[in-house]
Amino acid sequence: MSKEYILAFESSCDDTSVAILDTEYKVYVNLISSQPQHLQFGGILPELASRLHMKNIMYLCQAALKEAGIDLDQISAVAVSVNPGLIGSLIVGLSYAKGLAYSLGIPLITVNHLLSHIFANFIDHPQLRTPFLALVVSGGHTELVHFRTETEFEIVGKTLDDAAGETFDKCAKLLGLGFPGGPIIDKLAKNGDPTFVDFPRALKQKDNFNFSYSGLKTSVLTHLSQYDQGYIEQNRENLAASIQAAIIEPLVKKSVRWAKANSIKSIVLAGGVAANSELAEMMQQEAGKHGIRAYIPSLKLCMDNAAMVAAAAIPKYRKKLFSDWSVNASSLKGTKEI
Ligand code: KG4
Ligand code: ZN
Repeated sequence: MSKEYILAFESSCDDTSVAILDTEYKVYVNLISSQPQHLQFGGILPELASRLHMKNIMYLCQAALKEAGIDLDQISAVAVSVNPGLIGSLIVGLSYAKGLAYSLGIPLITVNHLLSHIFANFIDHPQLRTPFLALVVSGGHTELVHFRTETEFEIVGKTLDDAAGETFDKCAKLLGLGFPGGPIIDKLAKNGDPTFVDFPRALKQKDNFNFSYSGLKTSVLTHLSQYDQGYIEQNRENLAASIQAAIIEPLVKKSVRWAKANSIKSIVLAGGVAANSELAEMMQQEAGKHGIRAYIPSLKLCMDNAAMVAAAAIPKYRKKLFSDWSVNASSLKGTKEI
């Protein structure tokens, strides 16, 4: 049987990405064009992001087809992430994907950006099967998602305030480090003592699977305000390790506890924070103690990319769960379907 190719687009935030996968999760191309133009503003400017997506998307699509050596008439379906994200940015990706699918007379498959992070694991780990528990940790999200099948899931825990990645970024700012703070704290923490300051771990009750990080941020601020700048400079690595431990410990403990209580044998990590080396190591260790396997995507697939969008679209393609032409993008968090 000839191969069925899915052409996928990702434009929910500040990265434009185009990928082509076959329905066996083989990646033929996964191009990512980032937007350094935001750096000078210290954050992402939504209007600028959507304009840059508009400028890039067609060229990136042409480059992806050329690099993969695949023609448009060989594509079986077009996939795109439609929520959550920056609404203007999402609309650029959706409009382009819709126009392409319509003109080629092939199905359009829309997916949730947050959940698509989870499906990056199917690319790296072909042996992965449902049911599994996914821990999605990114700049804007911290959620525990139980997947019964590849298209049926329930959210079993989430953050009540700040996301894990956001907490890394905000605490890094308090330490006078750059943006995004997660990778910088990760690197510094390797040479630091995680017990240097005992920052609080919230919602410790055994039956609580939600997360809360606003107290940690306040506690770091209160701690630092007792000392002068020299203290931060001298103890940067120890402070980074202590902050990192306070962010990670609840993520690992709650994931393993839920999986154990519900006889789930696989935990899947996803999202930008899944790139954290200590989180990966601790999850593997703690899960392993209970005979649970932890799956972690490769570094490139932890970040926003279109290969994960195509991967999330594959089960929908198999079940013919296509979107109609009236489908719209939405910036809202929370989802009832993949
Ligand atoms: O998934 P992502 O690219 O963006 C969203 O969709 O939100 O994740 C970005 C987040 C940022 O908060 C960044 O600080 C964090 O992932 N991050 C890390 C690491 N690499 C990226 N956090 C901790 N350790 C890392 N190595
Ligand atoms: Zn993301």
